[in-house]
Amino acid sequence: MRIVIAGGHGKIALLLERLLAERGDQAVGLIRNPDHVADIQTAGAEAVICDLEAASAEDVAVLLSRADAVVFAAGAGPGSGALRKDSVDRAASVLMADAAGRAGVRRFVQISSMGAGAPPRPGTDEVWAAYITAKTAAEADLRARDLDWTILRPGGLTDAPATGMVRLAPPPVPAGTVPRADVAAVIAALLDEPGTRHQTLELVSGDSPVAAAVHSIS
Ligand SMILES: NC(=O)c1ccc[n+]([C@@H]2O[C@H](COP(=O)([O-])OP(=O)(O)OC[C@H]3O[C@@H](n4cnc5c(N)ncnc54)[C@H](OP(=O)(O)O)[C@@H]3O)[C@@H](O)[C@H]2O)c1
Repeated sequence: MRIVIAGGHGKIALLLERLLAERGDQAVGLIRNPDHVADIQTAGAEAVICDLEAASAEDVAVLLSRADAVVFAAGAGPGSGALRKDSVDRAASVLMADAAGRAGVRRFVQISSMGAGAPPRPGTDEVWAAYITAKTAAEADLRARDLDWTILRPGGLTDAPATGMVRLAPPPVPAGTVPRADVAAVIAALLDEPGTRHQTLELVSGDSPVAAAVHSIS
């Protein structure tokens, strides 16, 4: 499979690229910073320069022309303000989904976040509220499209090593954390399970092996 990953230099994206390369898939990381090309190649993926806050859907559709699947792994990241939550966490996902539709790439896995799907609680920090609002809007946009989408909402991300053991289920899953390495393994497994399309899934560390967890909800 040829899988295009938006936000290709993200921490989850780099882990996913390694996993996909190891199993013989062709991963393509969309990045905006040319200094990141070598890291993508070291992970075993192809790097393509594409600033998701500047590209048009037509531009991105060209990049997706030979793809079998899209993974949205971009994010404005810590330290960014409310405007970039909207321009990346919402608008860049909308852009990728629009481009996938134009290019005829049906499979689309979106990394969202636990907490999305409901309005931010009154009194929530402004940037967190903008983040949750952006993720919720990106999810709603994707659900309305004729694509084979899966929305994955991880809990708090850690850089701990992979455990291979997760709790993956439709909401609500009790809050928790999950290593980025386990998120990457779940996405790799979701890409292999078309039966997980049209599902919104929450993910934290748990006691099910990744393959069994994904198989059980497909
Ligand atoms: N932190 C948490 O606890 C948590 C929990 C649940 C879900 N999430 C979500 O999980 C996802 C992945 O997390 P992560 O930790 O792997 O993310 P990350 O390391 O922050 O990576 C995000 C990537 O998006 C890229 N990006 C930002 N703007 C871009 C643009 N205009 N064009 C192209 N790429 C752009 C960044 O590239 P640059 O280096 O160029 O900025 C970065 O490589 C994010 O959507 C995040 O919101 C996070």
